[in-house]
This record gives sequence, C-alpha cells and structure tokens, in this order.
Amino acid sequence: MGLEGKTAIVTGGGSGIGRAICLRLAQDGARVAVADINVAAAHETVSLAGGAPGEAWAVECDITDLEAVRRLAGDLRQRWGRIDVLVNNAGWDRMEPFMQSGPETWDRVIAINLRGPINCFAAVLPAMVEQGSGSIVSISSDAGRVGSSGEAVYSACKAGIIGFSKTIAREVARHRIRVNVVCPGPTRTALLNEITGGETGAAIIDAMVRGVPFRRLGEPEDIAGAVAFFAGDDSAFCTGQVLSVSGGLTMAG
Ligand SMILES: NC(=O)c1ccc[n+]([C@@H]2O[C@H](COP(=O)([O-])OP(=O)(O)OC[C@H]3O[C@@H](n4cnc5c(N)ncnc54)[C@H](O)[C@@H]3O)[C@@H](O)[C@H]2O)c1
Repeated sequence: MGLEGKTAIVTGGGSGIGRAICLRLAQDGARVAVADINVAAAHETVSLAGGAPGEAWAVECDITDLEAVRRLAGDLRQRWGRIDVLVNNAGWDRMEPFMQSGPETWDRVIAINLRGPINCFAAVLPAMVEQGSGSIVSISSDAGRVGSSGEAVYSACKAGIIGFSKTIAREVARHRIRVNVVCPGPTRTALLNEITGGETGAAIIDAMVRGVPFRRLGEPEDIAGAVAFFAGDDSAFCTGQVLSVSGGLTMAG
C-alpha cells in the first residue's frame, strides 16, 4: 500500500473501525498515533499492535478541543519528524427521530462529527504544506450520502465532511496533499450496538442488513482496507474521492 515508514494520526483509534485502521496501518509498516478521548482504550490498541512491523503510540486527545488537537500534531512532529497521514475516524451518534431530539444532542453530534474533523484538518495541514505531501482520509457514512432515519443531524455532519473534504482537496492539491473520504454502511462496532440498543435493536439491525445487497453487516477490517489504500502511495493520483464500503448499500455514480 506504500505505507512503510509513514507517520499517521488515527482519531478514535481505541475502538471499532478506528482500532482496525490502526492495526492495519501498523501491519503495513506505518508509525501510528492512536488518538482517543479514552486513553485506556488507545493503550489496548497499542498492545494489540505489538509485533506489527510498524509502531503504535497511545495519545489522549479530544478532537472537539482545537488546542488539544494542535498539541497532538506538535507532539507527533517532535516524536517522528513529520505527519504523513491523518485519519479522521472518531465519531458519535444517538439514534432518535429528529422531532424528538434537542439542541444538546445536536450540539454534541456536530462537535464530534463535524467540528472535530475540521479541527484535525486545521492542526495537520500546516505541517503537510511545509512537507509538500500528505494524505487525509475521513470516515463519513453512507448516512451522509443517502440519509438515514433517526440520524438527521449526524447525516448532515457526515454530508458536510464530504463537501469540506472535496473543497480542501482542491485548495491543497498544489501542495501534493490528497484528501479522500470513506463511507461505511452499518458496521459491527460498539457504536452500532449503542445506537441500536434496547428492545428494537435486533429488528433495526435486521432491517439494515436487508438493505445491504451482500446481506451482512460490515466488519471494521472491511473499512480498514479502503483507508489503507487512500492513506498510502497506491492511491497517489486520487484526491477528492468518496468511496462507500457497505456491501453495495450505496451505489453512487
Ligand atoms: N459502526 C457503524 O455502523 C458506522 C457506520 C458509518 C460510519 N461510522 C463512522 O465510523 C467511525 C468510527 O465509528 P465506530 O463504529 O468504530 O465507533 P466506536 O464507538 O466503536 O469508536 C469510536 C471511537 O471514537 C472515540 N471518540 C469519541 N469521541 C471522541 C472525541 N471527542 N475525541 C477523540 N476520540 C473520540 C471513542 O472513544 C471510540 O474509541 C465514526 O466516525 C462513525 O460515525 C460507523
């Protein structure tokens, strides 16, 4: 994948899709900063990466805090000299009909899923511009492409990340920085369990799976492969692209 020796930040690397991405990048020889608000979970990911050809380092970071994210970028440069890859993966949602949701939930969803990745772009871009290279991959969602009942504000954030990424891809192309987006469909993680919890959980998952032509949930490793492609040199001529990894749930032209 062309990741050997590269340095990467993966936000939300302590769980689910983010953990699988960290393990995959380390397996492909990258040095990975596992950044998570839950530092114990980040440490677990680092132990799981033990023995991989690359390296992993656990860092506590809340992506909603711009200063904290800037500190993370500075620490990474001090430790490894450069920032080759940013994976914006950390995310959160609560599934409820929009008319039953309120401003407290909207603000939290927007802070984590939209403002958080914007903070991370802002923190790493100066280093990437200076280097004249870099690859940013953001985890959006098929919810941001086609909508998803019970996830209105989340879908707005995930669609926002797509428009934001395409715009930044245009702005920074002359610095040889690439910006791409991966959209998972329903994927087996703690977040999916949390949002589909309760009595109706199994029925919701069942309905989701019926909408997937491959008739199964995604696994975190399914997403990690696509992220490794965009992160590394194999995708050197790809920028501003959006790839759904969802068993055919979304087939965008
Ligand atoms: N699981 C799915 O079905 C699915 C589908 C589409 C998109 N996604 C997206 O994939 C990404 C990963 O989701 P997941 O299912 O693996 O979730 P998860 O809950 O298993 O993992 C999310 C991780 O992000 C961390 N995190 C949360 N808020 C943070 C913050 N403010 N700062 C730093 N870290 C923070 C959590 O501690 C956790 O380790 C998210 O962006 C999510 O929206 C997931």
